[in-house]
Amino acid sequence: MSVIIASVVGSLAVGVAGASPLTVDEKVRNALQLDQNVKQGKKLYEKHCVQCHGPQALGSAEKVIPSLAGQRRAYLVKQLADFSEQERASRDMHGVVSRRELSNEQAWADLSGYLNSLPRTSFPQTGDGRGLELGEAIFQDQCASCHEEDGRGDDDGFIPSVRDQHYSYLVRQMRSIASWHRLNVDADFVRYLDSLDTEEATAVADYLSRMRGPVKDRDRMNSDGTVNN
Ligand code: HEC
Ligand code: HEC
Repeated sequence: MSVIIASVVGSLAVGVAGASPLTVDEKVRNALQLDQNVKQGKKLYEKHCVQCHGPQALGSAEKVIPSLAGQRRAYLVKQLADFSEQERASRDMHGVVSRRELSNEQAWADLSGYLNSLPRTSFPQTGDGRGLELGEAIFQDQCASCHEEDGRGDDDGFIPSVRDQHYSYLVRQMRSIASWHRLNVDADFVRYLDSLDTEEATAVADYLSRMRGPVKDRDRMNSDGTVNN
């Protein structure tokens, strides 16, 4: 027994003192400090991503592939890191980010810079429109404190934009986050989503999928708060 304890303590000490691998959050922070080469990001995108996310990075409602155009940079970097480190489930994305050219911080910075620079687009797919008041009430009450009242998200806190996204994808994510398909997330957030029943979740997604017009304080959501025209 004492031998086992000694060896466990010993290996912990080595882990702390030795060159332990960077945590996923450290990698994200490193990637956000790097210069973004948007041209290189476009090249990588066209080689590795276009067949699923589409030429303008608008994804597909039918295939439940998210739109990435104009999504927040900090959030995109974090998702690429999370897929890469198996902190977020997706067989499709794991196959992609494990390619050597893509499993590094510079690639995440370049791809995210490129995707953030693309114009946001809203999509025709919505829910059945019967729960819009309920969806608005839940969103403004329980979600807007983080995602902002017009759904634009926030780079501080790695909060995604949840507008200009496919209805089908929003519904699916709300369900799958609630069942822990993302591990590198705040437990309270998972509980928020888990507390919604199906009617409430689809009502919020329906409300979000109908948001139109410019976002309140930023038109195209750069991480530094500047607006592209
Ligand atoms: C084989 C198809 C496929 C390819 C190729 C692919 N993706 Fe994806 N991607 C998906 C699917 C499906 C999802 C949704 C995963 C889920 O349901 O959680 C996704 C999700 C994402 C997300 C999360 C978006 C969000 O709103 O959370 C990001 C970021 C992303 N992909 C970036 C990329 C980039 C960058 C590339 C190229 C380097 C790429 N993807 C290539 C299928 C693909
Ligand atoms: C405490 C802050 C917080 C609150 C409150 C919150 N969220 Fe989130 N939400 C986040 C963060 C952070 C993420 C990104 C998680 C990650 O990094 O994987 C996220 C991700 C999401 C996503 C996935 C987006 C994508 O592109 O994949 C959806 C959908 C979502 N939230 C909806 C909601 C809804 C609906 C509510 C209210 C019921 C809500 N959120 C409340 C912080 C919050």
